[in-house]
Amino acid sequence: MASKTPDRQAGKHTLKDREEVAERLLEASLRHSIDPDRELDWDSPFEDGKWFWPPELISLYGTPLWQNMSEERRHRLARVEGAALASIGIWFEIVVMQLLLRHIYDKPVTSKHVRYALTEIADECRHSMMFARFLTKSGTPVYPVSPVTQNLTRIFKSTSNTACSLVFTLLCEEVIDWMQRVTFPDERVQPLVRGVTRVHVIEEARHVRYAREELRRQMDAAGRLELRVTRAVTGELARVFVRSFVNPEVYPDCGVNRRAALRQIRESEHRREVLRKGARRLTDFLEEVGAFDRRGRRLWREAGLL
Ligand SMILES: [Fe+2]
Ligand SMILES: [Fe+2]
Repeated sequence: MASKTPDRQAGKHTLKDREEVAERLLEASLRHSIDPDRELDWDSPFEDGKWFWPPELISLYGTPLWQNMSEERRHRLARVEGAALASIGIWFEIVVMQLLLRHIYDKPVTSKHVRYALTEIADECRHSMMFARFLTKSGTPVYPVSPVTQNLTRIFKSTSNTACSLVFTLLCEEVIDWMQRVTFPDERVQPLVRGVTRVHVIEEARHVRYAREELRRQMDAAGRLELRVTRAVTGELARVFVRSFVNPEVYPDCGVNRRAALRQIRESEHRREVLRKGARRLTDFLEEVGAFDRRGRRLWREAGLL
């Protein structure tokens, strides 16, 4: 199903043909697909004194609790917070895979658009297995999302319209992608963490492209009711995302009071800046395609993403 008018001018951006975009992404996938099981060094032990996540990206960084922590406890928190991000990463990807499958359910099976969606699902399968292998090796707990988020998302991933599915996908992919782009070149970080984030950054760039081009087409073709629903859901997604992004169980697991941690994070200007920077390219894009209404913008601001 092509959008109503695939080549017409929409604002500043020309809507690109679905098949043309998919063809380029398929070519890029052929050139740069990575098998993490073969290409990463899983056997070397972790290096003493190296970080599991850059300290500036740790949720508590710069807060009074952080200032009073020994270097050893900061490293422990980084390791556990890295594990929480890997855990949520797997959860995000499982949801995104189902959303992609729903998206292609009624599309022509031999189209490049469908072939690329299947390619992306194969990428996400490798990523989730890579994150799980990393969690096993790092010997940390695994952090599932809360039962409320788990069950609300169960409904969302089975009923959302395509535009809402794509906003969810981009929110999951772009903020983590920004953090990973900061992480993989950082020499203070464990080599395996750098390898995992590098693999992910290379392949996610294509996923972001696919989701953005499709969201543009969906918004262009949407009727008034669909636009209203999409904008309302876009606002709500910020809340869900920020609440589940770092599992609050990481704090007691590192001997930090959970309530105090959450309060200091809410008050942390540094943390707001990190989230805002991580989401900036996405918020600009969502603004451009008209995915925000006034309430949505307010919810994103309250969540610290705008
Ligand atoms: Fe992924
Ligand atoms: Fe992805």
